[in-house]
Amino acid sequence: PEIGCLSIIVLGASGDLAKKKTFPALFHLYCQGFLPPNEVHIFGYARTKISDDELRNRIRGYLVSERSASPSKDVSKFLQLIKYVSGSYDAAEGFQTLDMEISKHETSKNSLEGSSRRLFYLALPPSVYPSVCRMIRRYCMNKSNLGGWTRIVVEKPFGRDLGSAEELSSQIGELFDEPQIYRIDHYLGKELVQNLLVLRFANRFFLPLWNRDNIDNVQIVFREDFGTEGRGGYFDEYGIIRDIIQNHLLQVLCLVAMEKPVSLKPEHIRDEKVKVLQSVLPIKDEEVVLGQYEGYRDDPTVPDHSNTPTFATVILRIHNERWEGVPFILKAGKALNSRKAEIRVQFKDVPGDIFKCKKQGRNEFVIRLQPSEAMYMKLMVKQPGLEMSTVQSELDLSYRQRYQGVTIPEAYERLILDTIRGDQQHFVRRDELKAAWEIFTPLLHRIDNGEMNPIPYQAGSRGPAEADELLEKAGYVQTHGYIWIPPTL
Ligand code: BG6
Repeated sequence: PEIGCLSIIVLGASGDLAKKKTFPALFHLYCQGFLPPNEVHIFGYARTKISDDELRNRIRGYLVSERSASPSKDVSKFLQLIKYVSGSYDAAEGFQTLDMEISKHETSKNSLEGSSRRLFYLALPPSVYPSVCRMIRRYCMNKSNLGGWTRIVVEKPFGRDLGSAEELSSQIGELFDEPQIYRIDHYLGKELVQNLLVLRFANRFFLPLWNRDNIDNVQIVFREDFGTEGRGGYFDEYGIIRDIIQNHLLQVLCLVAMEKPVSLKPEHIRDEKVKVLQSVLPIKDEEVVLGQYEGYRDDPTVPDHSNTPTFATVILRIHNERWEGVPFILKAGKALNSRKAEIRVQFKDVPGDIFKCKKQGRNEFVIRLQPSEAMYMKLMVKQPGLEMSTVQSELDLSYRQRYQGVTIPEAYERLILDTIRGDQQHFVRRDELKAAWEIFTPLLHRIDNGEMNPIPYQAGSRGPAEADELLEKAGYVQTHGYIWIPPTL
């Protein structure tokens, strides 16, 4: 373990992301002893001129922990670790002050002697990344000659398309080396996403089945039952493909489809992810359905004639030995009839079927990412009773039931801990980002140019009927008369 002072600097400290995700995640880590008060100092940085206490009061309400024995005491102790520095994002002065404040603690008596570690969390819009990175590079780098590091954490959107993403990458890349840059995709911090590697490569069950000979189609689905309330302005600039599919769902696809990495080393894993992304064929227009929910344009921050999709189904085809011919159906939508994220692997029909199973549905392996984390396999069994008939049932591993009393950590909590530990496995590498943008850029440009328009759908519905038709055309067979119900305790 590294000894020495750890300074965590949250830039954009009074913004939404910092309040809702970054500080609560830091608080959870604090409660579990990962941020020892004699080693750790937290700084908030933003333009607003407020006092330490004002910042503390703004974030206090977001700090909740069921895991802490005395929550209110922990909250106050945690808040005392936070100092606030105000300054602009592109001028020397604020960053010089910030550096002074950080250095004070690094040399003060209450911090342990040794290296100094500086973690800069950019909870900011990407438009200011280059200037902020330049300022950090110039004024705020770790200067301890006893070792340590400086790392920066950035959040999507990393650009709007291949060109802008590459430009951003090279601007940041001139200032920091790849091992110093942590690009967060918070889906990589979710328990069941992290489990994919174990599931696929530590189980004999799946190894021989995980290919085009057995799998008919794969769906990766994200559904939300609320619209873009309050963030219409941001969302309209990006749309559902940039907001969810190009990053979160594509990352999941990588882990479902990639080949076995040479080892668990982050670089080995990321090498395989890049390879599978590079094997994705260009998207065909007829394998895309876009939707926009009715009422989306009523948001005052959304232009009246916006053609931004709030729903999309896109089929990706992977051109390699394992997956040739298997559609990977990525589907995401806002303002739908339910909230869930899942991976659905549908197997082919049983050859030479003597039970007429086909009518009842195929084998499916479903990984429910959220809510109610679970994995279940839909399979045929004999209907219990005197008759020799068949029925769909399931083998069910529901986490709430199986792991009672275990709290599943928040994605951000886990990922921030990784940034402190220096583990980049669950972060997006520069070439991975580039490969991801290469897949979607032509389609996005066609949408931006008004060459493809979303189909209206009712808020609270399943989305456009055309999306279900596309699924069927791709080979997905919906199971009728069977529904998996998460077990309640
Ligand atoms: C964010 C998107 O990245 O992910 C949001 O910008 C979306 O639009 C959110 O609501 C979903 O995250 P989660 O963890 O709630 O599934």
